[in-house]
Order: sequence, then C-alpha cells, then structure tokens
Amino acid sequence: VSEYIFDKIDKGLHRLPDHPLGILKAVIENYFTSQHTEKGHFVMFDDLAPVVTTYANFDSVLVPVDHVSRSTNDTYYVTEDTVLRCHTSAHQLELLKNGHRQFLVTGDVYRRDSIDATHFPVFHQVEGVRVFEPHEWESRNISSLELASTELKTTLEGLVRHLFGDCEMRWVDAYFPFTEPSYELEIFFQGEWLEVLGCGVMQSSILDNASLGDRRAWAFGLGLERLAMILFDIPDIRLFWTSDTRFSAQFSAGMFKAGGVGMKKFASYSKYPPCYKDASFWLPDDSSFTENTLCELVRDAAGSLVEEVKLIDEFTNPKLGRTSNCYRFTYRSMERSLTDEEVNKIQEIVRARLESELRVTLR
Ligand code: PHE
Repeated sequence: VSEYIFDKIDKGLHRLPDHPLGILKAVIENYFTSQHTEKGHFVMFDDLAPVVTTYANFDSVLVPVDHVSRSTNDTYYVTEDTVLRCHTSAHQLELLKNGHRQFLVTGDVYRRDSIDATHFPVFHQVEGVRVFEPHEWESRNISSLELASTELKTTLEGLVRHLFGDCEMRWVDAYFPFTEPSYELEIFFQGEWLEVLGCGVMQSSILDNASLGDRRAWAFGLGLERLAMILFDIPDIRLFWTSDTRFSAQFSAGMFKAGGVGMKKFASYSKYPPCYKDASFWLPDDSSFTENTLCELVRDAAGSLVEEVKLIDEFTNPKLGRTSNCYRFTYRSMERSLTDEEVNKIQEIVRARLESELRVTLR
C-alpha cells in the first residue's frame, strides 16, 4: 500500500457534516432513523477501521477462494492476512455476532482500479442489514424468504425516493456471493438507467455463523461518490478530496433536496488546462504487467494530479513475439495550472519506475 493511499485512511470525508459525502450519508441515515421496526431504530456505524482481516473481507461473506477480488491486482494487502476493506460488507458478520440486528455501516473502501473521472482508489460505501425473527413471518403467514425480500424491496424503494424523489425504478437480477436472491436497483434519471445499489437476502450460512440460524436478513450496499456526483452535479471524483474552498464553500449540512430539485447544484470553477504525456513500452515476457499496477504506480507518483490513464495503442510484433503498449497520461490539477516543469518531473519518475518496478522496456 503506497503512502498516497495510506494517507487517505484518516481523512473521514463521510464524517464531515458539510462535505457532500457527509451530507448524503446524513440523508440516508435520516431515512433509516425514520423507519420504525419492532426492534426500534437502526444503529449507525461510521468509524470502523478500514484495515480488516482477509477473513472478514472475503471469507466471512463467502467470497470463493479463487475469486478475482482476492488478488493483489484488485485489493490492497497490508499484510498477508490483512487488507484495506474493499467493501463495507466486511463488517456484516462481526456486527451480527456483536448482537446488532439492524444497522448501517458507512466507511471508506479501497480498490485498485483504472484511472478516470469516476474511479478513485478510495471511495465510500453505506451498508445496511436488517434481521427478522421467526414470529415476524409466522404471524403474517408468509415464508421467511418472502418477508425478507418484500421488506428489502419496499425499504430500498423508499430510500431511493427519499434520495431521488419520484422516479422510475427497476429491479435487476444480480449476483453477490453473500446474498441469494441478489438484486440491483436501477433508476431512470436524467435520461439514463443508473444502478443505485446492490442488495439481497443474506445467505443463511452467514446467519448460522453468527448463531442466528433460525432468522432471515436482508443486506444492501451502495457507493456514495457516484450518487453524490449525480445529485450534486460533481464532474470529477477527485473533487471530493480537494481542500479548495471554491469546492467546500458550496456545500453545507441540510442543503439536500430529493433529486436535487430546487437545490443549488455544484457550479464548476474553471477547469485548468490538461497536460498529456505518452509512454510506449515493450511489456515484460512474463505477463506480470497489469493496468491496475501501472495506475497504482502513477497514483503514487502523481497523487490527485493525474486525471486519466488510457491505453491508446497496442500491437504485438510477431517476429519478436513481444507486445508493445502506448499509454496516454492526462495530468490536470483541480486547483491550479500545472507547469511543464512539474509535469515533466512526475513523468520522469513514472518512466523510471515503469522500468525498475514493472520491468517494461521503454521505447
Ligand atoms: N458489497 C457489495 C459491493 O461492494 C454490495 C452489496 C452489499 C451487495 C450487501 C449485496 C448486499 O458491490
């Protein structure tokens, strides 16, 4: 895990009441506070540490041993058996074991990924879980599965209306290892179908592990950045991390209105000019090169000054049996104009590390 990523761990953007992520989190929590169930209110967690065991992140939620998300290409390993959580689902089992029966967990999650305007290696999720007791389905004369899935759907449709106002919605079948059945909820917003959240009825074996074998539960998870970008009109995911007051001064607790209707949206301040750098290189023969590793290296060297990393050309020389990639790096600050000098310096570091760490041959 690079310094650049480690540095993000104690930022707690979702705990800042006047930050768009903090505002959205509060709006979601308010909705669940208004949901009265026989167990009273939902308990809110927003400061569980993001370094978790691989058991919590993967095994406790039934992620198969050979699942791609376990690879060091997708997940940040801190040690061999601890990771930066890649989803808030990592806390489901532990909280159930601690006796919680309905709760939300909001937190920063970490994924190695490509670089563009909607992807950042750290983002934020809200997880929700609710457990039902046998008498709740028995008294209604329906199956436990029916109760959990009906309740899940009405609760989340209500949440979406709370966030987006009246809008068209559809349920799409999905797959998650920890729920069955699993769904994604999509809304028709500004002319497009958008996925808002993933959810499902919790696999019984997770409840078994928490000694709750005779209960049923639902769970959902949603990403805050994507929703905040849509609702507040925020054009680039890096803006959430800026300390520029031209950004922060535009947001305040309590400003939110459903669907953004009648709410003052984010007014972009001028975009500073981009600076493009291309690099062409032969890949090492052992197929160790991956785009995520390249992006991680660039993030470490350029921080939030890198806007996009894009493969623009690829060819294989049949005689040599070697493959060449050409990547275009877009550098742009959200705060100021970059000088040639500083971009050249970053690019030099990137090139040097490409050779020494990724073992490519620059052309
Ligand atoms: N953890 C899932 C993700 O990160 C979301 C999810 C949570 C899905 C809970 C179902 C139930 O994509």
